[in-house]
Amino acid sequence: MNEPIATLLPAMPSREQHARRSHPLEPLSAAEIRAAIDIVRAHPAFAHGALFETIELLEPSRAAVAAWKTGGAPPPREARANLFRNTEHGVWRLTISIEKGAVLTSAFVEGARPMIQLEQFVLVEQLVRDDPRFVAACAARGITDMSLVCVDPWSAGSSDLPDETGLHLCHVFCWLRARENDNLYAHPIEGLNAVVDLKAGAVVRVDDYGIVPIPMGEVNYDSRLRTSFRAELKPLNVVQPEGASFRLDGHKLSWDLWSAVIGFNAREGLTLHDITYDGRPLFHRASLCEMVVPYGSPFSAHHRKNVFDIGEYGIGKLANSLKLGCDCLGHIAYLDAELNTMDGEAVKIERAICIHEEDSGLLWKHWDFRTDRAEIRRGRRLVISFIATVGNYEYASYWYFKQDGEIEYEMKATGIINTVGCLPGEPSKYGVEVAPGVEGQIHQHAFCVRLEPALDGDNNSVVECDTHVEDDDANPYGNAFYVRETLLQTERDGCRKADPATMRYWRVINPEKTNRVGKPVGYKLAPSNVITPFLKANGPSGRRSAFMRNHLWVTAYDPEQRYPAGEYMNRSSGADGLIKYVAQDRPIANRPIVLWHVFGLHHLPRPEDFPVQPCITTGFKLMPSGFFDVNPGIDLPPNVNMASRLHGASASSCCGNASAG
Ligand code: NI
Repeated sequence: MNEPIATLLPAMPSREQHARRSHPLEPLSAAEIRAAIDIVRAHPAFAHGALFETIELLEPSRAAVAAWKTGGAPPPREARANLFRNTEHGVWRLTISIEKGAVLTSAFVEGARPMIQLEQFVLVEQLVRDDPRFVAACAARGITDMSLVCVDPWSAGSSDLPDETGLHLCHVFCWLRARENDNLYAHPIEGLNAVVDLKAGAVVRVDDYGIVPIPMGEVNYDSRLRTSFRAELKPLNVVQPEGASFRLDGHKLSWDLWSAVIGFNAREGLTLHDITYDGRPLFHRASLCEMVVPYGSPFSAHHRKNVFDIGEYGIGKLANSLKLGCDCLGHIAYLDAELNTMDGEAVKIERAICIHEEDSGLLWKHWDFRTDRAEIRRGRRLVISFIATVGNYEYASYWYFKQDGEIEYEMKATGIINTVGCLPGEPSKYGVEVAPGVEGQIHQHAFCVRLEPALDGDNNSVVECDTHVEDDDANPYGNAFYVRETLLQTERDGCRKADPATMRYWRVINPEKTNRVGKPVGYKLAPSNVITPFLKANGPSGRRSAFMRNHLWVTAYDPEQRYPAGEYMNRSSGADGLIKYVAQDRPIANRPIVLWHVFGLHHLPRPEDFPVQPCITTGFKLMPSGFFDVNPGIDLPPNVNMASRLHGASASSCCGNASAG
């Protein structure tokens, strides 16, 4: 099972291609993905019936990357692949040597389900539309044209229903289009669901919870269906006459004092690697690695909506091909995403990752009132982003690198809220009526980011920082307060919640490296967008969403511990993931560690979120905290933007003494 099986292969990526690679953590190229597919196909165990969930770079070890950086040979190019078959219940987990043309290891994970594949979305809709039980239930609701019925393939969660046991399933919710391009989510077919066996390609069951009249008022966002628009504003152009200030060498990005390697895979989408500032290592790896969206209604089948968009679908495979001048404004560089189809073809999402610079306003300023002299520096930030569409919702993911050493992550949620039907004027207590007869239910979006810190080296620690009021005997004026730091020693210590009562935040430090005042260098993580979970911990959805129960988890570094709700978590029990990792209670001080920060959106929809939701945002910041000896932006040269204009005047007018010095 686990020994290498060499196979002769036609078209391996050449040694020359390999040598040209700018960094060993670059994602697999299309040629490498094709090679991996050929290697799998040539293997006797996988020649027939194997379907491909994911193929991605098997990231080389930290040691191998470090050796390459100091002049050693590039580490071998290897891939991970997950395969499945429609004839068996489980996932084959393979590692593959691209250069040797060999499957290195293979293991069958009994009972695991692959992610639901984009290719299955349309199939599920057709299967349900064709099912006579479903057609009859639609007819009972007055629907005769089945081509207007839209079936969304939701993940099925865990359930103990006997006809669902062990199966790889979708549980669907349905809507109706009034006509072509009409917004289907304005017309929920409430109370009608079906369960689809993805492997057998069959409808297991149609569930009819009773008829609610389908609201047929049109609420559209498509410009082709709008008859009026407000007056357009004058152009606002972002022009960089000398080009952008970043450099892209393959997937290796450098800008100002920053550098990083941009990765991408089908599950997480964008990943960042080897992040450095002024040559100093900050993070080995950073990615949004899971999210879950629990809905709060106990009615009909809505309790099953607890969808893990990353672990159950993969937001990388659902990435948009971005449009210049629409998704991205200004001077833009794009990277394509190279992925695989379920049937074993390489597939490219063109322009999946957007890279550009933005003005980020004032970075710092001081006016000396005695000398009437001002020093002003505007900041700029580098933005790396991608957008995924998961059914009705859009998730737009942005990483910002700033000139003062700060890293910010922002998630913008947009798209269309999940809608359910209600009697006009009578929404349930679990939602808000967003249009007559259309209810948006209360829900949350919990996101988990996985961070591998490397502040000036691999051995890092986390300290918790709580602010306390001084004890009475040392607090004669009642004003005294101070920050107390607590070192997190083991993984159980490392399960933390935010605490607004103590203004709690965490610092990642390198205890072996000190700044000029003798303190360990560090970065601060302030939990500014945390959410309180309302799922009961022991319910079917609560068990699977256990990662929501802390706002920070700190684990010992293990590159195989990648996902907070588990590696194969579609229809999982909830036993895998952070709960299992931290049960080991490994030491986490002064050693390679991983931080898992959970943040999110608490979302009772508003009428303004319909028919399409303006972006609502969440995220977090990583701010240097004693990492630098002074403001890292102190050396920005004084500068006046000569393109700026006074409103109503044609000549430029600029600020004070900045360029005159
Ligand atoms: Ni929402």
